[in-house]
Amino acid sequence: MEKQMLRAVLKRLREKNLLLECNKEVDKEYEMGAVLKHFNNKRPILFNKIKNSQISSIGGLYGDREIIYNLLNINHENRIEKFMDAIVNPEPYKILNNGPIKENIIKRNIDLQKLLPINKFQEKDSSNFITAGVMVVKDPTTGKHFTSIRRLQVNGGNKLSALIASPKLTKDFLKLEKQGKPLEVAIVFGYDAEFLMASQISSATYGIDKYEIDSRLRGEPLELVKCETIDLLVPANAEIVLEGKIIPGKRETEGPFGELMGYYGHIAPHPIIEIDAVTHRNNPIYQTAFPCREEHVSNGLIREIELYYHLKNQLDIVDVYVTEGGGYRFNAIISIKKQKEGDAKTAILASLGLNKDLKQVVIVDEDVDIFDPQDIEWAITTRSQASLDYVIVQGALGSSLEPSHDLRGITDKVGIDATKPLNDEKEKFSRAIIPGYDKIDISKYFPNI
Ligand SMILES: Cc1cc2nc3c(=O)[nH]c(=O)nc-3n(C[C@H](O)[C@H](O)[C@H](O)COP(=O)(O)O)c2cc1C
Repeated sequence: MEKQMLRAVLKRLREKNLLLECNKEVDKEYEMGAVLKHFNNKRPILFNKIKNSQISSIGGLYGDREIIYNLLNINHENRIEKFMDAIVNPEPYKILNNGPIKENIIKRNIDLQKLLPINKFQEKDSSNFITAGVMVVKDPTTGKHFTSIRRLQVNGGNKLSALIASPKLTKDFLKLEKQGKPLEVAIVFGYDAEFLMASQISSATYGIDKYEIDSRLRGEPLELVKCETIDLLVPANAEIVLEGKIIPGKRETEGPFGELMGYYGHIAPHPIIEIDAVTHRNNPIYQTAFPCREEHVSNGLIREIELYYHLKNQLDIVDVYVTEGGGYRFNAIISIKKQKEGDAKTAILASLGLNKDLKQVVIVDEDVDIFDPQDIEWAITTRSQASLDYVIVQGALGSSLEPSHDLRGITDKVGIDATKPLNDEKEKFSRAIIPGYDKIDISKYFPNI
């Protein structure tokens, strides 16, 4: 029985009745995306019949926090501890001689559009885009594996354009490009939650091998096989792998593309990947993700750990939520057990300084539910005064994925201290409580409800 990658995930989802299967024929252009968006990209959907394709496709697989917890056998309370454990205690992976991913090997006449049901999602998208492929590269100096999701524009035949918003990956590629050398890449489809979560950890911060983090997270070695045409390892039980190279000295225009915040990203020249081999299992399943905020929950989960540990050095921190509305990047809510009056301002400084994408942070007391927008609004409106509690930083670095940043090439940042004062002698900030409220059994009063 397979334990790793997509087939194991599908089995688990079916057992738990979490998988929707669509047997009606769908068009990979717009229609599949519309169906995924209908469920807010939080329902895993297996599309069994895609127009002009022999291959089925899974979407919406990792857009829901609870499904990710479930697949990883973790829960909300222990998530931070589990992910941090994987980062600091990497374990070896295992190299196998063969695996199902080698059941079919294609090295000639590669036409990606014909081979795979690659989606076109939104009206003004420049082409069809691969949106869920995990790109594998090796650090040219250390040889450590670096995995990440990068959207890829299909340019025709075996060519793709890559959007690489990663300083580390860009630096690695530019260094090789100066020497006239390509960067070898493999793009993996049909992975499990462990593989995804490891891919979202920032390599630049930890300088780690993501395959070793994956092995710790799954509690057994990640099983890998060698690629056919390049010196990289890929999961033995993945569904589809594209093997190729980022070519030095070549750029092609990429975009527009409907980005995660629902705006179109602009057109710009980006590096080209040429695919030299495609390997796939029998009856492979292509993996896709609607480009949207919900699909970035895995990224947000990792940012939550980074914030938690960064702040833990200085504060008694309770929990962190990098919010869905803010694309799991731009907005964080942090609850603390305040010990000193300066705690909240320190939390603001530390979090805004940690990650360039973070644009807004709200600090609340531990009695506020950071996953409840009403409770956060309540804390901001009743526990903060703008002139005293708002910290505004003008002109810092930001993410190009939100358009207000593009106006000036830089972004303003704001931190809101929505904590109550420590010295609340008159108990102005204590919540009114009904004694016995928690114990009320409403069915005793209204038996028919
Ligand atoms: C569904 C999904 C799509 C993503 N698409 C992109 C992308 O197109 N370009 C990009 O640079 N990062 C994208 N990311 C984020 C990176 O995969 C993530 O930041 C990376 O793994 C961490 O490495 P880094 O620190 O080098 O960014 C995506 C993440 C997810 C979950």
